[in-house]
Amino acid sequence: MDFNLSEEHIMIRNAARDFAQTELLPGVIERDNKQKFPNELVKKMGALGFMGIMVDPKYGGSGMDAISYVLIMEELSKIDASASVMVSVNNSLVCYGLETYGSEEQKQKYLTKLATGEFLGAFCLSEPEAGSDATSQKTTAIDKGDHYLINGTKNWITNGGSADVYLVIAQTDKEKGSHGINAFIVEKGMKGFHVGPKEDKLGIRGSDTHTLQFNDVKVPKENRIGANGSGFRFAMKTLSGGRIGIASQALGIASGAYELALKYSKERKAFGTEICNHQAIAFKLADMYTEIEAARYLVMKAAWDKDQGNNYDRSSAMAKLYASKVAMEHTVEAVQIHGGNGFVKEYHVERLMRDAKITQIYEGTSEIQKIVISRGLIRD
Ligand code: CAA
Repeated sequence: MDFNLSEEHIMIRNAARDFAQTELLPGVIERDNKQKFPNELVKKMGALGFMGIMVDPKYGGSGMDAISYVLIMEELSKIDASASVMVSVNNSLVCYGLETYGSEEQKQKYLTKLATGEFLGAFCLSEPEAGSDATSQKTTAIDKGDHYLINGTKNWITNGGSADVYLVIAQTDKEKGSHGINAFIVEKGMKGFHVGPKEDKLGIRGSDTHTLQFNDVKVPKENRIGANGSGFRFAMKTLSGGRIGIASQALGIASGAYELALKYSKERKAFGTEICNHQAIAFKLADMYTEIEAARYLVMKAAWDKDQGNNYDRSSAMAKLYASKVAMEHTVEAVQIHGGNGFVKEYHVERLMRDAKITQIYEGTSEIQKIVISRGLIRD
């Protein structure tokens, strides 16, 4: 067992750290205030290979491993979780889904552009009445011979207004339940496909979250991903990898808040000394560091499982469950350590605290992660 990162991994982490400091940090408060994320930053991340981190170079990707993905995600998330969720969805839901389950034609047509940042992807599973209960899909995709006709509504879609390619999960045969669900590639601009209003959110305000409407959208048959009826398993397998991305996002939010709190506690004085010298603050730092390290090991283990070809359904659920709890609890502590300044935007920790909450909700709530973990334990 080796807990050290390789030289290559350290270089990758440092490249992501530099990018986050030089490109994401300036403007992060303004993007949060104005709820916007500039497209040119997506292109810059594409140029660095961050939009197709694990994709085979023959499809334009960087051909890196899942450990590298976690390292990049952590560094981006320390500074800007709105940027990192864009990266996570594009990489582990859209690119992974297409590379693993798509046809060669689909890979050539879409993956090659998604992996380089030329296109941005979105993953459309959630609905007004199908969030946690993902098998209850109301969006329908009716087989019309040479095409499917898609009707329905998708909610809370990351990259919803800015994506070029949407992977859409829909019910083709209700009688067959989860075995009657399919996944489709829908392109921006297809007739009948409408992007609804942008959500006004508590956190990750720079990320572009929308409701989507599908009114008789005609999708060619060759845009179905995988065999007929395989869409639910496609979504579940893809989400297992997505949860490694969100777990590493939570890890980054937590470690970013910890680093700010440590620095502040060494500068701020009260009662005649730096506040880190007061046990009330020092013990908070000790708890934060210990639990963030524990989260890191769970996240790295899930990534390692993926790299080894092991099943990672449970390890990714455990990593997301724990890292998101640590992110929520310790961003609150980081605000507390900052005192009044913690409540002020220019100190960044209040944003990290707001951003942390979503990591306990999207790509499966913490309660859903406990279902995945406990079902696996009981089954095995
Ligand atoms: N791999 C392969 N197959 C799987 C699977 C997996 N990981 N999980 C389930 N399945 C299969 C089951 O084996 C079952 O198949 P059989 O009928 O052949 O036995 C079938 O799928 C149905 O599974 P369940 O009976 O377990 O289904 P369920 O209704 O009990 O739900 C659930 C399972 C785990 C709760 C699932 O609904 C779930 O994960 N819900 C959360 C959804 C979610 O994560 N949404 C996130 C939205 S995406 C997002 O947030 C992206 C973003 O923008 C950031």
